[in-house]
Amino acid sequence: MMAPESLRSLGVTALLATVLGPNQSLAAAATGPLPSSSCTTQKFTYESADNQLTETSLTSLHNQTPNSDTSFLDFADSPSQLLSRRGRQACKTFPGDPLWPPPAVWSLFNLTLSGALIKTVPLAAPCYTNTGVYSASACKTVRESWSDPHFHVNDPTSAMFPLYQGRTCMPTETDGGDDPSSSGSAAANCTLGGYAAYSVAVTKVSHIQLALNFARNLNLRLVVRNTGHDFADKSVGAGALSVWTHKLKDIEFIERYNSCRGGGGGGTRTGGYSGPAFRLGAGVETEEVYRAAEANNVTVVGGECRTVGIAGGYIAGGGHSPMSSIAGMGADQVLEMDVVLPSGRFVTVNEGSYPDLFWALRGGGGSTYGVVTSVVVRAYPRIPVTTLTFSFTTGPNVTVDTFFAGFKAYMNYFDTFTAAGAYGYFLVVGIGPGQYLFNMMPMWGGNMTQPKFETLVNPFLADLANLGIPITPVFKEYDSFYKTYASTFPPEVVGGFDSHAGSRLFPKENFEPGKVNETLSAARHAIEGGGVLIGYNIRAAPNPTVNQDNSVNPAWRKTTGFFILAAGWPVNATDAQIQQASETLTNDWLARWRAVSPGAGSYLSEGDINEPDFQQSFYGSHYPRLLALKKKYDPSGLFYAPTAVGSEDWYVTGQVPWIPTQNGRLCRRS
Ligand SMILES: Cc1cc2nc3c(=O)[nH]c(=O)nc-3n(C[C@H](O)[C@H](O)[C@H](O)COP(=O)(O)OP(=O)(O)OC[C@H]3O[C@@H](n4cnc5c(N)ncnc54)[C@H](O)[C@@H]3O)c2cc1C
Ligand SMILES: *[C@@H]1O[C@H](CO)[C@@H](O)[C@H](O)[C@H]1NC(C)=O
Ligand SMILES: *[C@@H]1O[C@H](CO)[C@@H](O)[C@H](O)[C@H]1NC(C)=O
Ligand SMILES: *[C@@H]1O[C@H](CO)[C@@H](O)[C@H](O)[C@H]1NC(C)=O
Ligand SMILES: *[C@@H]1O[C@H](CO)[C@@H](O)[C@H](O)[C@H]1NC(C)=O
Ligand SMILES: *[C@@H]1O[C@H](CO)[C@@H](O)[C@H](O)[C@H]1NC(C)=O
Ligand SMILES: *[C@@H]1O[C@H](CO)[C@@H](O)[C@H](O)[C@H]1NC(C)=O
Ligand SMILES: *[C@@H]1O[C@H](CO)[C@@H](O)[C@H](O)[C@H]1NC(C)=O
Repeated sequence: MMAPESLRSLGVTALLATVLGPNQSLAAAATGPLPSSSCTTQKFTYESADNQLTETSLTSLHNQTPNSDTSFLDFADSPSQLLSRRGRQACKTFPGDPLWPPPAVWSLFNLTLSGALIKTVPLAAPCYTNTGVYSASACKTVRESWSDPHFHVNDPTSAMFPLYQGRTCMPTETDGGDDPSSSGSAAANCTLGGYAAYSVAVTKVSHIQLALNFARNLNLRLVVRNTGHDFADKSVGAGALSVWTHKLKDIEFIERYNSCRGGGGGGTRTGGYSGPAFRLGAGVETEEVYRAAEANNVTVVGGECRTVGIAGGYIAGGGHSPMSSIAGMGADQVLEMDVVLPSGRFVTVNEGSYPDLFWALRGGGGSTYGVVTSVVVRAYPRIPVTTLTFSFTTGPNVTVDTFFAGFKAYMNYFDTFTAAGAYGYFLVVGIGPGQYLFNMMPMWGGNMTQPKFETLVNPFLADLANLGIPITPVFKEYDSFYKTYASTFPPEVVGGFDSHAGSRLFPKENFEPGKVNETLSAARHAIEGGGVLIGYNIRAAPNPTVNQDNSVNPAWRKTTGFFILAAGWPVNATDAQIQQASETLTNDWLARWRAVSPGAGSYLSEGDINEPDFQQSFYGSHYPRLLALKKKYDPSGLFYAPTAVGSEDWYVTGQVPWIPTQNGRLCRRS
């Protein structure tokens, strides 16, 4: 193909503007059949034929620009086309490289996107004079808003956990001074670091198709960014083109959805589903779904954080929920997905259409097989919920041993509670030398009235009393999931880089008499060493009314205790201190957790970026099949994210051990 440099002299931009008119996009000229069958529902408007990129619209572009090669926007339909047309380059093209698209090409691309292309400006840029947008008052706003997840969600680029972005443009702690070497100085340099170079603010499917074709054909790094919630910064990448799905906010309640029955396509289920469901746009956040469910008198399976993208990383990673002990994982609820594939083609995925991808996209991780544009998830009738909160600490009558015996008393009931459909969300943490806190925040009895729930938990509370641990249990009954959620889970705080977490999915054997002592002492070692344990008593309930034959980590199916463990360090810590803390987390604390639960796993969406043998931990026995599908649908590696399926074929340059950032070139290992 013609080198992009030559496009500049051809004035393609001006030509295209003449041909299409300033406000007309390529996609507007597109025509094509709406994928449909008797079992699928109407897509969202942004997914309709008018809003897709088709062969016709591309042909019309090529015809209108006879003197230039615009084939860098073409689809790739065969395996050879899917491999980069530049051959197997060692690294993705990086800004400043000779082959990096020149401004004229970005302008042309922007034109085909009807102006949806954004050049990245870091969220904290107003805090720095080198950015050209310095403003003390704007910086003050940045500083004050930084810990609010919404502030990051609404930005096309930002990441909520900046450690692996590279911390290259953090809000300054004061208005700064003139000393560039002091932290908090406006004269220090703000750089892009791991943030993507450009972002496409997607409002229709054609934008995603054009972005994927552009990045694939020009060998650019691609990232998919929804809310920026990812622990491991999987939604950023230096020098990347970012597909920003946040604006895809449509929510549709479908009173009676009829699922495809798997005929012809090799689906494994015969039952099908007929009942209430939601179609959710890729940018919809958890709380938005919950509100819509409340308004329609139904319940939807979702997580605990208000701003997590339910159709984005949540479902892709598996998705655990206060509903999971009753209904299974978030990914289990999916009836259908609409997806732009690495080829650029837009397809519907369900039991009968692309059943292999239907399997892989439900649990195999985000940013791996394509960009999901919407999902259909089943809904459940409204349920009552009863919650229980209490806490206890070490104290005059509670020794450290008694405190941990109290934790063990809870572990003894993990199987009983989850088998009954209950869920627990709790914190175990040191609060001073030799002092510890256990905080139940809350235990959640889904579909249980208060009397029923009290009957379930009272034996446990009696065990605590027998140990001499005084507690004041507070029960509360609600008549819907949303009401429970809204008054139970506090808004979260983000933006810091003074801690890092890993996790373990403990099977129920770990809490049985023969093993609970070992499990407790592994947990206790980490807590006594300064770790913060955020625990879930949860199971992925078997649910014959949904399709659970998916790629969710098999370890989830055996779990009754999911423990997240965070290691912290001072805010002003040196890299050496961060490395030390991270190494302790991975090689001491979590190593003991792995040793007491051999063959189990960790949750990829809340896992350790330094997890050894991440393929086994995050994907278990599904890994070989997931990898084969990766090679089938994305042989050139258009999609990459740290610890994603196939990521072992790539590395990011310029790494500091234990603090792997996205701030570097993305290169192939071989
Ligand atoms: C405070 C907090 C609470 C949490 N609580 C829970 C919980 O209760 N249950 C639970 O299961 N998880 C929970 N998580 C983890 C959460 O599910 C993951 O962080 C999830 O990946 C976030 O997805 P996102 O789309 O919002 O974030 P992003 O960071 O934008 O994306 C996450 C990953 O998904 C990819 N991705 C996003 N959208 C798409 C798309 N449309 N198509 C393809 N790939 C896409 C991204 O490229 C990235 O790899 C929590 C996380 C936090 C920070
Ligand atoms: C893309 O076009 C829009 C509208 O013309 C413009 O506002 C925006 O700045 C352009 N983006 C880039 C990266 O030039
Ligand atoms: C910022 O970057 C510029 C240009 O690279 C350099 O000259 C300057 O010394 C840097 N300033 C600081 C404080 O690092
Ligand atoms: C809401 O759902 C519950 C449980 O299915 C049902 O009993 C109730 O009648 C419904 N309320 C309305 C207003 O539809
Ligand atoms: C400790 O136990 C004693 C004796 O039962 C009791 O009087 C005292 O109130 C308890 N202290 C606390 C802090 O619970
Ligand atoms: C809630 O419990 C009732 C019976 O107690 C049952 O019929 C219903 O299916 C349950 N709902 C869910 C969502 O499990
Ligand atoms: C577990 O520890 C308790 C004391 O805390 C002890 O009585 C019991 O025998 C231990 N169980 C096993 C299997 O070692
Ligand atoms: C961090 O701050 C604390 C308290 O202000 C100080 O004692 C410590 O030396 C600082 N550490 C580093 C690495 O600057």
